[in-house]
Amino acid sequence: MRMLVTGGAGFIGSNFVRRTVKTRPEYEITVLDKLTYAGNRANLAGLDVPLVVGDIADAALVDGLVAEADIVVHFAAESHNDNSLEDPWPFMHTNLIGTYTLLEAVRRHGTRFHHVSTDEVFGDLALDDPARFNEHTAYNPSSPYSATKAGSDHLVRAWIRSFGIEATSSNCSNNYGPYQHIEKFIPRQITNILSGLPAKLYGTGEQVRDWIHVDDHNDAIHLILDRGKTGETYIIGADNDHVNNKQVIELICELMGLGKDAYEHVADRPGHDMRYAMDSTKLRTELGWRPRFTDNDTGMRRGLEETIAWYRENESWWRPQKEQVEADYARKGH
Ligand code: NAD
Ligand code: TYD
Repeated sequence: MRMLVTGGAGFIGSNFVRRTVKTRPEYEITVLDKLTYAGNRANLAGLDVPLVVGDIADAALVDGLVAEADIVVHFAAESHNDNSLEDPWPFMHTNLIGTYTLLEAVRRHGTRFHHVSTDEVFGDLALDDPARFNEHTAYNPSSPYSATKAGSDHLVRAWIRSFGIEATSSNCSNNYGPYQHIEKFIPRQITNILSGLPAKLYGTGEQVRDWIHVDDHNDAIHLILDRGKTGETYIIGADNDHVNNKQVIELICELMGLGKDAYEHVADRPGHDMRYAMDSTKLRTELGWRPRFTDNDTGMRRGLEETIAWYRENESWWRPQKEQVEADYARKGH
C-alpha cells in the first residue's frame, strides 16, 4: 500500500509516520510537507521515508503525488489558534484551499482519503456543562483556526456526498507528546522550566482540554483506516475532560521537581474557548479502540513523564527556536 501523508513533518504527522514505519511495514510512505515554521525535517530523522517539500495547495504537485498513492492521510494544516488571531490568511490558504486541492486530486484518481480534524470545530462548552461533543454535535467554531478546520470538514463531507469519494474523517481533542512545537501549551511549559523560565498560565487556567497522547490518536487513525466505514466521521478522545489547564501546569511543575505553584499568570487569550469534551463511544464500540495512556488521577501522569523526558533528552531539537517563540509571546502579552 502506497500512502501519502500530508503534514508528515509536523507534530502529529511525524509521530504517525514513525509509528506506521514501526508497526505497519506494509505501507510505503511518502510525506508531502511545506516545512513551514511548524514542520521540521529533523522530525523524520533516521527514517527511510521520502519527503517532498511542497504546498498542498499546489494542484500540479498534488495531482502527481496522489496519482502514485493508494491512500492519502491528511494532517497538513496551520494549527495554532494564537497565530490565527494575528494573521488568518495562512489558515484560509492551507486549511481550506489546500484541503480542496487534495479532494479534487483524490476525486480524479479514486484514492482513499482520511481527513484529520479537531474538536475545536464544535466551539466550546460552559465549564459547568457536562455535555460532550459527538458525531452529531452542530459546528460552532470560535477562531480563524477552528473556522477553517470546520470549513475543511464540510468540504470533505460535500465531496463524499456529491462526488462519492472514498473518505473518512476524525475529530480529535488536544494532543501532547514528543515533537510538539514549543509554541503549544505543554511543550512551552516544559521547555520554559528547562530554560529556567516560569511556566505561563493564560488567565485563571480554568479552561478544560480533553488531553490525549499522540500515539493514542494515531492508533485510532490506523483503526479507522483498517476498519472504518467510508463516509463516516469518528470522534477521538481519551476521557480527560475533568482536568483543567491549572491542574496540567501544576502537574508539570511537580513532575519537574518544582513546587506546584511555580508558574505565573499571563494575559488571557481573546475569545478563549472554555471547555472541550469528547464522546468517543462510536470509535470504542464499533472499532474497539482504547487509549493506552490512561491513569486514574489526571489520566496524563505517565504520558507527561515520558514527554518531559523526551524534551530533556532532545534539547538540540527545540533550543534553536526557544528565544524566538518566547519573543513572539512577549510581543503578544503572553
Ligand atoms: P503542526 O502545526 O505541528 O504540523 C502541521 C504540518 O503541516 C507542518 O509540518 C507544516 O509544515 C505542514 N503544512 C502547513 N501548511 C502546509 C501546506 N500548505 N502544505 C503542506 N504542508 C503544510 O500540526 P499538528 O499539531 O501536528 O496537527 C496536525 C493535524 O491534526 C492538523 O490538521 C490539526 O488540525 C489536527 N489536530 C491537531 C490537534 C493538536 O492537539 N495538535 C488536535 C486535533 C487535531
Ligand atoms: P494550545 O496548546 O495553544 O492548544 P488549543 O488552543 O488548540 O487548545 O493551548 C491549550 C490551552 O492552554 C489553551 O486553553 C490555552 C492555554 N495556554 C496557556 O495557559 N499557556 C500557554 O503558554 C499556552 C501556549 C496555552
